[in-house]
Amino acid sequence: MPIISEQAGWTEDDVATHVLDGEPPGGFDCGREMQNAFLYQWAWADQQVGVSVTHLYFVKGIFAGYATVVMDALVLGKPERGRGVRYSSVGAMKLAQLGVDRTFAGHGLGSLVIADVIRLARELSGRVGCRYLTLDAQPDLVAWYADRLGFLRNDTTQERREKDALAHRRPIESLAVSMRFDLRDVDD
Ligand SMILES: CC(C)(COP(=O)(O)OP(=O)(O)OC[C@H]1O[C@@H](n2cnc3c(N)ncnc32)[C@H](O)[C@@H]1OP(=O)(O)O)[C@@H](O)C(=O)NCCC(=O)NCCS
Repeated sequence: MPIISEQAGWTEDDVATHVLDGEPPGGFDCGREMQNAFLYQWAWADQQVGVSVTHLYFVKGIFAGYATVVMDALVLGKPERGRGVRYSSVGAMKLAQLGVDRTFAGHGLGSLVIADVIRLARELSGRVGCRYLTLDAQPDLVAWYADRLGFLRNDTTQERREKDALAHRRPIESLAVSMRFDLRDVDD
């Protein structure tokens, strides 16, 4: 089934991507200040010091979305680990930031970007131990990541995060939710 909806007026073939190679193009607005601010204040600066890499997505040449990726180590409780996994901390790649411009949202571009990031993580996992794609989901997006995209909640990591928040008198309802996608769950 195509990822991009028929109503979009553009298709997967109209999407091109490249790695950020300077300050990002202007005018992007994904509707969430945190992701807009990261893109314009930190994406290029962080990439220049080697702590993240940002991938830009263009629809018919228009800057429409971005994904920032970093390496990660995921702490898992025994019941959460895949069969045969002996370690409590397992190599992963993290989708640290994700944004789709409001003009293009709701047609599948976000899902397409995530599929592309999963492809990248799987390529990497052929050469470096990397079992999962992780992310910290805003609470309103947990259902989307879980039900539509196949991510699971990282209970052990999230319990730690909640304990820490409570200890510092921070409300737990607004905490980002740690999630993982098992790279072995994709058919070759
Ligand atoms: C989240 C985001 C990347 C999705 O991009 P997209 O191109 O619209 O994604 P898709 O078209 O593949 O999927 C759309 C689905 O995402 C979910 N979704 C998007 N925003 C949502 C929100 N604020 N609350 C709940 N669900 C939401 C819905 O299930 C929606 O499906 P629907 O259109 O049938 O309701 C985009 O809305 C965005 O950039 N948001 C602001 C930045 C952000 O939240 N980044 C992620 C931080 S964890």
